[in-house]
Amino acid sequence: MSIQVPPRAERLTHYSHGAGCACKLDPSRLARVVRGLIPSDRPELLVGPQTGDDAAVWKLDDQRALVVTADFITPVVDDARDWGRVAAANAVSDVYAMGGRPLLALNLVCWNDELPDELLGEVLAGAQEIAAEGGFVVAGGHTVTDPEPKFGLAVVGEVAPDRMLTNAGLRAGDALILTKPLGVGVITTAIKRGIAPPEAIDAAVRSMTWLNGPAARVALDSGATGTTDVTGFGLLGHLGRMARESGVDVTIDVARVPLIDGARALAEAGAVSGGAVRNVNWVDAQLDRGTADELTVALLADPQTSGGLVFGVDEDKVEAALAELTRSGHRAARIGQAQAGSGRLVLR
Ligand code: CO
Ligand code: CO
Repeated sequence: MSIQVPPRAERLTHYSHGAGCACKLDPSRLARVVRGLIPSDRPELLVGPQTGDDAAVWKLDDQRALVVTADFITPVVDDARDWGRVAAANAVSDVYAMGGRPLLALNLVCWNDELPDELLGEVLAGAQEIAAEGGFVVAGGHTVTDPEPKFGLAVVGEVAPDRMLTNAGLRAGDALILTKPLGVGVITTAIKRGIAPPEAIDAAVRSMTWLNGPAARVALDSGATGTTDVTGFGLLGHLGRMARESGVDVTIDVARVPLIDGARALAEAGAVSGGAVRNVNWVDAQLDRGTADELTVALLADPQTSGGLVFGVDEDKVEAALAELTRSGHRAARIGQAQAGSGRLVLR
């Protein structure tokens, strides 16, 4: 099926001011605002806003806790159904990143009412495809009109309180595994500028619509306790936060970090998003760049939409975890190590 977009903008991404998770508010500004809020002291709140985790966790009883999250993004691709799939995979990822199982979701829709209804139908159908694949249900939602379209989900899942994966759970000695290559931010920036080759677009869409559920299962089965998904703050931003919350230093083997084919060339052609620069500034005080050049650092900080998981496992679990991830179709890699420390990020 092909649906006509009105002439005002031939392409869905023209309606977006940025690229996906690169549209996140500056993390330092957000931190300042959130600091001013009074934290809840309810004992049921197992994970709240303080640790920058992927989702909130609310204990129901000793066996069960709710995992609750919300995420929405501007158009990152021009195909409406793909955008719906990406936004849904991105939103539910925060449940997986906590070790949870998604149960149900609500659509969050900001829609430009000059755009045809059929296009919105495609977006919602894309989300439904992802829900079917992830075994959860989309049970309603909310819409507002907005010149810049946005779409995402609020998701409720469940997790066993003693099997949670958090930002604060990295242990000294853990080897770090990343489950998807980086470069989505560069490619979506190139899409917006109309310079992305079709193969790069396909690779980015495949990566962004790939669910993190199976990767989270590998993390849990490998005994991981520290896990997050790599999204708007980039690998450096998310690992930097984990390092601080876990009280460890993290060393990244730069050469081992996988990139989507074509991403480096597009970055060299200038398709680095403002989000990457912002993310580098955010971690600057804790970052030891080693010999990494400017462009490599920017790629490591590239804001991902629906990026992979990064988690820490015992040395003797690395091989089996990587084998299982590869077997299930992931392009995963061991990218570094956590050691005793105070939140430093070291590139080598
Ligand atoms: Co997340
Ligand atoms: Co999120």
